[in-house]
Amino acid sequence: MDPEKIRKDFPIFRERPDFAYLDNAATTQKPEQVIDSVSNFYRKNNANTGRGLYKLANDATKIYEASREKVADFIGAEAGEVIFVRNTTEAENLLASSLEFEGGIVLSEMAHHSEQLAWRREAGKEGKELKYIETKNGEISLEDAEIKIDQNTGVVAVSHISNVFGAKNPIEGIIELAHENGALVILDCAQSVPHMSIDVKELDVDFIAFSGHKMLGPTGVGVLYGKKDLLRGLNPYQVGGGMVKSVKKERVRYSDPPHRFEAGTQNIAGAVGLSAAIDYIKKLGLEEIHAHDLRLTGKIKKGLREIEGVNVLSSEKSILVSFEVCGVHPHDVAEVLSQKSVAVRAGNHCAQPLHEELGMSGTVRVAPYIYNTEKDVEKLLEGVKEVLEVFDV
Ligand SMILES: Cc1ncc(COP(=O)(O)O)c(C=O)c1O
Repeated sequence: MDPEKIRKDFPIFRERPDFAYLDNAATTQKPEQVIDSVSNFYRKNNANTGRGLYKLANDATKIYEASREKVADFIGAEAGEVIFVRNTTEAENLLASSLEFEGGIVLSEMAHHSEQLAWRREAGKEGKELKYIETKNGEISLEDAEIKIDQNTGVVAVSHISNVFGAKNPIEGIIELAHENGALVILDCAQSVPHMSIDVKELDVDFIAFSGHKMLGPTGVGVLYGKKDLLRGLNPYQVGGGMVKSVKKERVRYSDPPHRFEAGTQNIAGAVGLSAAIDYIKKLGLEEIHAHDLRLTGKIKKGLREIEGVNVLSSEKSILVSFEVCGVHPHDVAEVLSQKSVAVRAGNHCAQPLHEELGMSGTVRVAPYIYNTEKDVEKLLEGVKEVLEVFDV
């Protein structure tokens, strides 16, 4: 992995060579290859999919379906198990609205609002019991999961990697526990798919959700994976054109999955861009990407721990680093860093209940990715030292 070379593929870094963009957990920058794939689709192949009978429309359908196959192959699924959605949030809402199940819902304390609110609303509507698994050392506590997941659990919705702590949760154990108790598992993979290889069959997970824009792809396209048999039993989330076999006055027959869940014209160019993003990631290799991320987060944590007044929250194997500068509001830290061309995220990262539990109003989050360099890390650490000087703490 040569981040300096990789940077050359990203127009934003050609415009801003010294920009230390470290907010990749929010969204990643886009390489030329992804931008070109979207632009070329509109220039050369644009037509609606699954409808027209002329060659251009057939070709557009083939390209769209080839993107689905690419995604399926990337996560070890079958193409029919991959539904294109707008993002992780839409995938969670689709499932929470469509899934019919007996029993209560188990979430984790560290849940992003995206998974938390969709399931909480459903629990409220249906009068279902809602439980939260506690956090221990920056990970979901397996011990507490053993208490919270029981015979009365219908759904367990947790994150593979928390967007605040950045470490992989013990999801293998959680999936086993849930299945032993007859519950379904929905795994939020928004922060894991860009960084590590995932095989849905090996994990034996029922559903996963992730967003294209966090893995070099365009905004507005994401993925919901579901086991074939489970998808067949689900009602559509939205209804309209492109998701029906036949519509008569007296009855409607819906298409089979995945098209049953893709009502109306889809983000076709977005799916094409996501396919190009997967090509880019595969060329670099997920193992190399993960090793690079761990190397940089290791340096960041080491550097931050050496600065007096800084408290690092993330644990050893995290792919991102959350921290606080004691006595300084996270927004102020981000502001000072921004003046030095260092972009980080500050706030509660859409995990407000977790921050309440931690007794913090917010944290600063640094999330490196493939194009971040040691120089970026040095700039960040210098910036944090400057924060201490500016605020005299
Ligand atoms: C763990 C996690 N889940 C879900 C989301 C929501 O992603 P999106 O805004 O793309 O729907 C995010 C985004 O930050 C996230 O980090």
